[in-house]
Amino acid sequence: MTANGKTGRKAPNDLGKLQERLLVKKQRALLRLDEPDPDGANIVKGRNMMEGYLRGSNIQYGDYVRTVASDPLFARAYALVKDLTLVSLPKLVNLYSLVRFYLPRLAPGQIVEFGSYRGGSAILMAFLARQLGLEARVYALDTFEGMPETAAVVDWHKQGDFAETSLAALETYRDELGLDNLHFVKGRFEDTAEALFGRIGPVALAHVDCDIESAVRYAYDTVRERMVPGGYVVFDDPLESCCLGAFQVVEECLVARDGLLAEQVYPHLVYRYPPLAGRTTPPDVSGVGPGSDA
Ligand SMILES: C[S@@+](CC[C@H](N)C(=O)[O-])C[C@H]1O[C@@H](n2cnc3c(N)ncnc32)[C@H](O)[C@@H]1O
Repeated sequence: MTANGKTGRKAPNDLGKLQERLLVKKQRALLRLDEPDPDGANIVKGRNMMEGYLRGSNIQYGDYVRTVASDPLFARAYALVKDLTLVSLPKLVNLYSLVRFYLPRLAPGQIVEFGSYRGGSAILMAFLARQLGLEARVYALDTFEGMPETAAVVDWHKQGDFAETSLAALETYRDELGLDNLHFVKGRFEDTAEALFGRIGPVALAHVDCDIESAVRYAYDTVRERMVPGGYVVFDDPLESCCLGAFQVVEECLVARDGLLAEQVYPHLVYRYPPLAGRTTPPDVSGVGPGSDA
C-alpha cells in the first residue's frame, strides 16, 4: 500500500487474459476442477457455475469494477450513458462482461431489453456490440411514457412512474452516435413483443429491467422460447427491495415451474435458457480442497 492509500497494482490491459487467469485460479482454488474438459465439468444442473462465480465474485469482492471502469472501451460507453440510466455501475460492468466475453461463445442471437426508460443500458450494450464487431442487434422495448397499470401491493411502482423520457430525443441521440444496431420498440410489451419476435430471429441475451410483476412475467414467458441454447436471461430487479413482484416471478416461473437454477446472483440474477446440457448432479469434490492430498 502506498502513502496515498493506493495498492500500486496496475490494471491489466487485456481483460480477456485477466478473465482467463482468474478462471484458472478459481478452478484450482475453489473446486479443483482443472482436469480435462473444464467447460463440461463446470456445468451443473443447466448452468455454468464457474462462469457465474467468476463474474459475480470478481464484481462483488474483487477489483473487477475498477479494472473495467479504466478499460477504454467501457469508459467510452459509460460516458455516453451515465446520465441516461438507473442501472448501477456493477450491473453495467456485468452487462459489459456478458456482451464482451460470453455472448461470442453462443450461437448468434439478438439482445432484447424489456424496460429501457431513458435508454442508458440499451445504448451501452449497442455501443459495445458495435465496437466489438458483434452482429447482435439491440431491441429496446418500453412504453417510453412511463409504467403501465401496476398491481397495488404486489408492485411498489405506480402507473406513470418513469414518464420523464422522450423517445424522439433518444432516437436523435442514437443517430448522432451512429448506432444503427439499436432499435427502440414503443408500446406495452404485451402489444409489441410477439410481432417483434416474429421478425428478429433468436435471442442470445434478454435484459429484463421492467420492475413490475406482470411485465417481468410477460417478458420471461415470451422470450424464453426464443432463446438460443444456453442464452442469458438477466434480471435487474428481483433482488431489489422494491421489486418483490419481480422476485415472485422468478420463484413461480423460473424455479417452481421451469426448474431452473441461477448461474449468477450478484449483481444480477442470471439464468441460462434453455438450460445447458451437462451434469445433473454436482461434481464430487470430496477429498479435494484445502488440506487434502488430492
Ligand atoms: C427501471 S426502468 C428501466 C431502466 C433502464 N434499463 C435504464 O437503463 O435506466 C423500467 C421501465 O420499464 C417500463 N415498463 C414496465 N412495464 C412495461 C410494459 N408492460 N411495457 C412496456 N414498458 C414497461 C417502464 O416504462 C420503465 O421505463
